[in-house]
Amino acid sequence: MKRIAVLASGNGSNLQALIDNLNVPDSPAEISLVVANIASAHALVRGRKAGIPTFFVPHEGREDRQNYETLLVQLLQEYETDFVCLAGFMRVLTYRFLNAFPYRVLNVHPALLPSFPGTHAPSQALRAGVKLSGCTIHLVDEGVDTGPILAQAAVPVLENDNADTLSARIQTVEHRLYPQAVRLFAEGRLRNKDKLFFLDGWSP
Ligand code: GRF
Repeated sequence: MKRIAVLASGNGSNLQALIDNLNVPDSPAEISLVVANIASAHALVRGRKAGIPTFFVPHEGREDRQNYETLLVQLLQEYETDFVCLAGFMRVLTYRFLNAFPYRVLNVHPALLPSFPGTHAPSQALRAGVKLSGCTIHLVDEGVDTGPILAQAAVPVLENDNADTLSARIQTVEHRLYPQAVRLFAEGRLRNKDKLFFLDGWSP
């Protein structure tokens, strides 16, 4: 049984999808720790409601990124974390954190990467006039949403969409795709060929 730490900053709907899908009998993994860096993050409520050890670790007042990440690493190691899922965690991680979990930090991004990395991806997609957007599950590296892509799902962009309607449509597929990818990852199905990575058994 793999132990997953989820890092979040906001609503935590992806955290909820992971809990609902993974913290069930016969799962290859469980969410065993939730950490948020924002006091008002609803993710904290969701973690506590699910009976999962849940911590608020503020980054404010800890201007030194490395110190902050050292704290996070200590906490995650204390809880014997096997791998990490970012779920709306609004901090870019450095090598200090990533070296503690090599190829073991996943993220969900609300666009078909490499298009529209960074913040406000649905708005970026609307401005560009693309007709398909979607979400991406990727491994995290030191860049902003630049790590190896593991899985993607597309949704249509409709003529009358605004950022909210498009985000909502993307989130619906995130909630399906992220748990699916995390399960495969937990089963040890990560493969790589040269610089490209795959989840064995994943299909769109
Ligand atoms: C998601 O849309 C995810 O793609 C992005 O941040 C959002 C988090 O939403 N990284 P939630 O907090 O999981 O509801």
